Amino acid sequence: MARQPVPRGAIGSLILIAGIVAGSVAAFSYTGGFLSPGRLTPEKLLAGLAPSGGAIPGHRRNHAKGICFTGTFRASGAAASLSQARVFAAGDYPVIGRFNLGTPDPQAADGTVRVRGLGLQITTPDRRQWRSAMIDAPVFPVATPQAFYGLLQAAGSKDPDAMKSFIAGHPEFPAFAGWAGSAPYPASYAGTAFNSLNSFLLTDAAGRQQAVRWSFRPEAPPEPMSAADFAGLGPNHLAEEITKRVAQGPQRWTLVLTLAEPGDPTADPSRPWPEDRRRVEAGTLTVERIQPEPDGPCRDINFDPTILPAGISLSDDPFPAARSAAYARSFNLRTSEWKDYPREAGATGAPRP
Ligand code: HEM
Repeated sequence: MARQPVPRGAIGSLILIAGIVAGSVAAFSYTGGFLSPGRLTPEKLLAGLAPSGGAIPGHRRNHAKGICFTGTFRASGAAASLSQARVFAAGDYPVIGRFNLGTPDPQAADGTVRVRGLGLQITTPDRRQWRSAMIDAPVFPVATPQAFYGLLQAAGSKDPDAMKSFIAGHPEFPAFAGWAGSAPYPASYAGTAFNSLNSFLLTDAAGRQQAVRWSFRPEAPPEPMSAADFAGLGPNHLAEEITKRVAQGPQRWTLVLTLAEPGDPTADPSRPWPEDRRRVEAGTLTVERIQPEPDGPCRDINFDPTILPAGISLSDDPFPAARSAAYARSFNLRTSEWKDYPREAGATGAPRP
């Protein structure tokens, strides 16, 4: 049979299709990190965070053990001159939050976990949201997201010298290790302070920018305990205690903004700023109601630190962007693993969309 000539237009179409396919493969390869194996991807970070037996489905890939709360943020108005964000204008704004422990294991005993966290979402009437996830440590263990990945790898390594070599190459690490090894354990979430550690920019009405970090400082005294005494309180003490405490009365934290001065290390959360930096008390968080995480209001929230209202923005700190990518990946995984998603006993069906 004589071969039919392929019409010219068809050749053009085939080239176009081949180009689209090649482009898509290249794009997928790039986003998947296949073209640059050294690139830090959210997948690598989650693999580093996973316990030795593998990630626990249905749960946050870090800070997996937690409890929800609802409450109010009352802005004092004292920070309104620093930022045009509505959240700093005097007023009351609803909050959904989550007290949590820095572990990928939702069943970990409280006494085995050193780092405590606070996830917060404040919503203002202009339909903006400010989300933040903070920890109680005064500094982060390492200076960069890449170094955090290195730390996760060293901590999970079978090589007995892995941590020693990691520490030798990261002179910033001992500050965090010193805190972790010696700081007392507050007996309650209520007596725990939480720090942003990452730096952000505030923008005022005239467009002027100011770098800040923030902390939520508790009104309740910390009741400091040794690691052993704290562990003796029981494996789920923190959630049980805060549930009882808040049922008896609301608990409060003051939002303190710390203002950077020129030269302060805004891009490195492992380095504290000098103690004498100006501080502004921007408002009070009141925790009014505790709710378990299964079917609770915080369960479906990704406390992504890059979700910011106009008037607060990212600084040169590389962490929030890296965190955002890892949190999104964790969120997508856990919400799709709905068979294991935290639900009340007896509840059936898929979680809320
Ligand atoms: C590159 C560094 C980091 C990585 C890879 C990382 C990873 C993660 C992941 C995967 C989650 C679970 C997210 C979800 O499923 O919703 C998480 C939660 C959390 N992280 Fe990070 N994190 C990093 C740095 C930090 C820093 C610097 C802080 C605090 C200053 C922090 C505080 C928290 C807190 C409090 C939560 C729990 C929030 C909640 O209740 O949902 N993380 N992190």
